[in-house]
Amino acid sequence: MKASRSALRFVLSACLVLPLAAVKAQTAAAVAPQYLGVADPALDARVEPLLRTMTLDEKVGQLVVYSTGQPTGPGTGRTDYEDMIAKGQIGALFNTTDARDANKYQRIAVEKSRLHIPILFGLDVIHGLRTEFPIPLGLASTWDTEIVEKAARVAARESSAIGVRWTFSPMVDISRDARWGRMAESAGEDPFLGSAIAAAYVRGYQGSRLDAHDSIAACVKHYVGYGAAEGGRDYNSTEISEHTLRQFYLPPFRAAIDAGSATLMSAFNSLNGIPTSANPFTLKQILRKEWGFRGIADSDWTSVGELIAHGIANDGATAARKAILAGVDMDMVSSLYHDHLARLVQNGQVPESEIDESVRRVLRVKFALGLFEHPYADETKEAAAMLRPEHIQLAREAAERSFVLLKNSAGPRGAPLLPLSQSVGIVAVIGPLASDTTNMLGSWSAQGKPEDVISLQSALTAKIGKENVLYGKGSGITDGSDQEIEDAVATARKADVLILALGENAYEMTGEGSSRAKLGLPGRQQELLEKIVATGKPVVLILFSGRPLTLPWAFEHVPAVMAAWFPGIQAGPALVSTLFGESNPSGRLVVSWPRSVGQEPLYYNALNTGRPPGTTDLTRPPDRNSKYMSRYIDEQNTPQFPFGYGLSYTTLRYGPTTTSIRQLNASDLNAALHDGQHKVLTVSAQVTNTGTRAAEETVQLYIGLRGTSTAQPVRALKGFQKITLAAGETKNVSFTLTPEALAIWNDQNQYAVEAAQVKLWISPDSAQGTPAELEIVP
Ligand code: NOJ
Repeated sequence: MKASRSALRFVLSACLVLPLAAVKAQTAAAVAPQYLGVADPALDARVEPLLRTMTLDEKVGQLVVYSTGQPTGPGTGRTDYEDMIAKGQIGALFNTTDARDANKYQRIAVEKSRLHIPILFGLDVIHGLRTEFPIPLGLASTWDTEIVEKAARVAARESSAIGVRWTFSPMVDISRDARWGRMAESAGEDPFLGSAIAAAYVRGYQGSRLDAHDSIAACVKHYVGYGAAEGGRDYNSTEISEHTLRQFYLPPFRAAIDAGSATLMSAFNSLNGIPTSANPFTLKQILRKEWGFRGIADSDWTSVGELIAHGIANDGATAARKAILAGVDMDMVSSLYHDHLARLVQNGQVPESEIDESVRRVLRVKFALGLFEHPYADETKEAAAMLRPEHIQLAREAAERSFVLLKNSAGPRGAPLLPLSQSVGIVAVIGPLASDTTNMLGSWSAQGKPEDVISLQSALTAKIGKENVLYGKGSGITDGSDQEIEDAVATARKADVLILALGENAYEMTGEGSSRAKLGLPGRQQELLEKIVATGKPVVLILFSGRPLTLPWAFEHVPAVMAAWFPGIQAGPALVSTLFGESNPSGRLVVSWPRSVGQEPLYYNALNTGRPPGTTDLTRPPDRNSKYMSRYIDEQNTPQFPFGYGLSYTTLRYGPTTTSIRQLNASDLNAALHDGQHKVLTVSAQVTNTGTRAAEETVQLYIGLRGTSTAQPVRALKGFQKITLAAGETKNVSFTLTPEALAIWNDQNQYAVEAAQVKLWISPDSAQGTPAELEIVP
């Protein structure tokens, strides 16, 4: 009902402003039904009649996903796709490379299969298609949901132009362990920030209408707990209590679904002994019953087949049965639904109603995307959709805002080393990543091409002239010779300032299947770093990585260090504008930066324990009272840099946090929970820019609760705001909170506000600030 009314409104308003030809075109488009999203009940009117005409084999076909093109896991499923599509045996394909490729398969589905149901084409468009943005960890470090949404919109425009209407993003796994390579694909360790970013991706991909030709369906993944892999080893098992699952791991999924994510991907890991691709508690109870999700739950790559390796199925038929009954609608690549589902229905082991339910979800997404009306991509428009100037401009802005300045101590003239002055003299840019154009793209770089990337060396040369730039490779990322190091040291000696570009290999050391047990600089880069620093010249270290690296020596001896993650196609220009102060770094850490690998998993929103350490100052031997505390005897508890941390080229002062109220009532708060409207409290602080440059500051609000039925984190992020401050300016920053900010998952696994002592911090990161206090009475 609502949908058709909005369609009518669209036609009428078009008539008022557009010339006749355009009105005709718009009117024709508006005749096609528009859905509010994948949950729109109006979709059922199209799904049900089609479902009734389908044979069992055709139904099963809709639940089958295969990969064509570049495989991103073991096998691809099958190879006889054209024949299978003609028989209606494939619902979705992924890894097609261009519009022609996709249209070739689509033509078979639409013209040759009995029911003409279009194929849904997917791809891992993780941080851009051709216009590569910073890796997701970098994008999240902007703490800027608007820029994330815009980047996702660009990705949607470029992807839809090649016929891809489904991206396997956003990845919203809470990542507390830097050993896990897929931290690079995440938004870090915090559920509040992670939820805001998850929703921004979905809004960007899906746009205001899922059936617009340039919208693509999001796929929130990996459901759930995948980031908690034991030991940080990819694909490993996870043990997460229901309380921790609900309070920390589920919220970003919920946020993505509330934002309308049309699809979701189950994960590889087992969760408390049950693999997540066969887990009815997470897939049916929580996802469907509690959250009312009406989109597709797809498996991950062969994760249905992997139920055999997990040890909960001894054959393919059992694996298929367990997955479908648990609520996995589509089988990616395993081919086990194709091989077994029809027979499982015929012999009574799987009710046909279960298959119908999954087929409904698949068809609902296809209708919602407008695939039945517009199955093909316009091959003539593909090239023009890529790398448009505004896309490149956005990639640069996103990169600039993703950099986290970790350290900036005195350079030769006593002032902080950065930003560099225009008359810096001779700059030597040294290191395996200084002239790199491949790793800059980051892992999962879809159709990103090295030739689209501007390296640090080229951008620097463009900025200060060839005559002022020296280059030395110094070493490879994982290898290097004495000669290379010596040559780089000789080059360094000729320069006034040194910029070192060190870090990881984006493809082999970060992303899927790239867990590390050691988190230092690989190869001979630490040696290179120490020798370069020994020249006594001022050194700026730029770290390219998909995770924080444990580099205590560097943080002690190098005056300026910046985390650049993998910045995407505009790496060089964004770095150079930041190094020279045209852009003031504003990125903030979304993961706690460890001092040692042994601290991992490391996250700021931890519980207090019964024995919180008074001090972990390792320069003093532990006395009797502090030995038996929760601490390491050989490392501090605190991170090198806390969650939320990041410097800029100015200095800021935070005044004390104040609250509008000192006492709240738990029952009043519970009555207002979930309405999302009820403002119960304002928390404020004055923030002053005490430096000489304009600043963009990410003001963070944390809350700590004590006296509740379940132990709560020492602090939990409940709000953030990006503000700009001119030099010398003071702003009063206020957060208006709803009861949700004070709600917890309690000892009954219910979401509620409880009586508590509350501390509230408005602070520049998770470790600073003077809290205000209030009480919640029963
Ligand atoms: C496996 C990865 O875990 C997942 O994130 C990705 O989307 C699929 N492969 C498809 O490539």
